[in-house]
This record gives sequence, C-alpha cells and structure tokens, in this order.
Amino acid sequence: MSVAPGAALDDKLGFGVGLRNKHFDYILFERPKVDWFEAISENFMDSGGRPRAVLRWIAERYPVVLHGVSLSIGGTDPLDRSYLLRLRRLAEEIGARWVSDHLCWTGALGVNSHDLLPLPLNEETLAHVAARVREAQDLLQRPLVLENPSTYVQFKSSTIPEPDFLRALCDATDCRLLLDVNNVYVSCFNAGTDPNAYLQAFPFERVTQLHLAGHQHCGSHIVDTHDRPVSGAVWPLFRLAWRRSNGAATLLEWDGDVPDFPIVHAEALRARAFSMDEATQPSAEASQESFGEAEALSTPLGFLTPDVMTRTDYAPRDPANRQLGAVAALDDLNAP
Ligand SMILES: [Fe+2]
Repeated sequence: MSVAPGAALDDKLGFGVGLRNKHFDYILFERPKVDWFEAISENFMDSGGRPRAVLRWIAERYPVVLHGVSLSIGGTDPLDRSYLLRLRRLAEEIGARWVSDHLCWTGALGVNSHDLLPLPLNEETLAHVAARVREAQDLLQRPLVLENPSTYVQFKSSTIPEPDFLRALCDATDCRLLLDVNNVYVSCFNAGTDPNAYLQAFPFERVTQLHLAGHQHCGSHIVDTHDRPVSGAVWPLFRLAWRRSNGAATLLEWDGDVPDFPIVHAEALRARAFSMDEATQPSAEASQESFGEAEALSTPLGFLTPDVMTRTDYAPRDPANRQLGAVAALDDLNAP
C-alpha cells in the first residue's frame, strides 16, 4: 500500500486498546468487541513465530495501527533506513491504517537510550526534523503520524511553543499528528503551564489519533507511567480534544502493571462515555487526584538522567564546535 503524504486517513476508528502480549490468548479465544488495536512496531518488526502470527490474525479481524518508539526523528544520527524498510514491510503485511512515532530523539552516535527524549523547539530543530520526516515518509510510502511526548525539562534554546512547532512541521511535510492528551497534562504540569491553553493552540485539523493513559503524580512533578487508569483531571481535556478533532481514533495505553484485558477495555470504553454529551462527569475522588497529594513513588526515575545525558563524550562542549541538534542543545538544559 502506498499513501501520499497529505492524503486523508480514515481516522474514525472509535475507541481502541494497545495490543499487549499478555492479552493474546484472551483476544484469540474471546474475540472481544474492540473497535481497533494499536501494536508497538518494534515488538513485531523483527519477530516471526507466534507474535507475528497473532498480529496477522488480529489484523484480519480488527483495524490495526503501528506505533513506534525508536525512529528518533529528532536525532542527529542518520535515519535508520533498514528500520524504516522493515517497518514499511510490516505495515504492508498487516494493512496498518497508519504508522506513528514520537517527536523526540532516542539516542546518539549509535547508542539507543530507549527513552523518548525531548527536543529544543526552535527554527533549527524544525528544519532538521522536517527534512527527516520527508525522508521517512519517502521510505515508508505513507504519511508519518507524530506524537507530542511527555516532557520533564525545558530548553533555554526553545523559541517555538510545541503546538506551533507541530503545526509548522505538518505544513512543511504533510505529516499527521497523534495528540496524547495525558502527555499534554503531564508536560504542562511539569512545565507549570496551562494544558487548556496548549489545546486551544493545537492544530486539530492535523490530528489523526488521540492517546489516553494513566500517570503517577509525585507532588513536584508527574511521571508518565501508563500503569493505572486515566487521571480524573485528564478526562475534561480529552473531551475537548475529541470534539475538536471531530472524533479522531482514540487509544487507551496501559504498559505497566497491565491488568486483565476486560479492565483495560473498560477504561477505553470510559473514553467513549466521556466523548458523549450525556457522559458522566469524573468522580469527585478521581478529580482530586492530579493536583492533590503526591502518590508514593513506585516508578524508578533513572530514565530522567540516562547515560546519554550525563556522559560528556557524546557531544562537543566547545561552543565554537557545536553540531546541529539535540545533543549539543543539552548544554542548554533548563529544568523548570
Ligand atoms: Fe502516547
């Protein structure tokens, strides 16, 4: 399948669930009435055998999209053409509705941090990422769908608000957007900014998909853990985003302490309820969560200072000898 960048995507898939290995048997035997599934690209790209066979079986019965975590569209290493061609092959094999990844970088000089690291948002980064999006789309033969990441720091060198950066990136490349509403809340809380203002500025005309997930509130900051139900404070933002995007495909992510499938599916169906006018409001208990008391910290925070951010041999420190991109920009790291 070949889809030109800028072509319309059928994004009215309803309310889906992230495909996790733990649920394979339940899905195969129970054939639950789920609108659609999102599969993590890297979990299937290089694996044959049962996982790939299960994905094919599911893709024959449900709409499926692919969601990647290692494209590193903002990185400074050359794009991994082999990765992109294997991703294209998988997408064609299962008839993926679209392929998404994150506006981030995931490593440098061949070292994969396995984290979705933030970019300084300025004109230099915009030109850099736009060129890489065009290259990726040429190899994938379809539009790339990019997600706003959760962030924990800001850069002094950032000059463009994230919604404006994403709009400009879409204008330059005809890529599409995956708006993660939980990420908006997490990033805005950590930066001390207003998530409603973020959404008011967001280019909803470019949105193909929405994400929802749970997070962990640590008092001074929020960690995007994906290990619990959606926060009560996120639901009103979701309702706004769902309406502004004209009912874009909505996906519930649950990646840690993954419960049985019916519980995950029920959380996705809460999104359907909140999208409707007659939906119930979040419970008072749930609504108090996010700006209330900090929760006991159960998530390691080591990812906040991965090797690549603390080692000094990855990037030139001489300002006169800086390379373009995120690694050099880490010099400008400015914790909120
Ligand atoms: Fe997400």
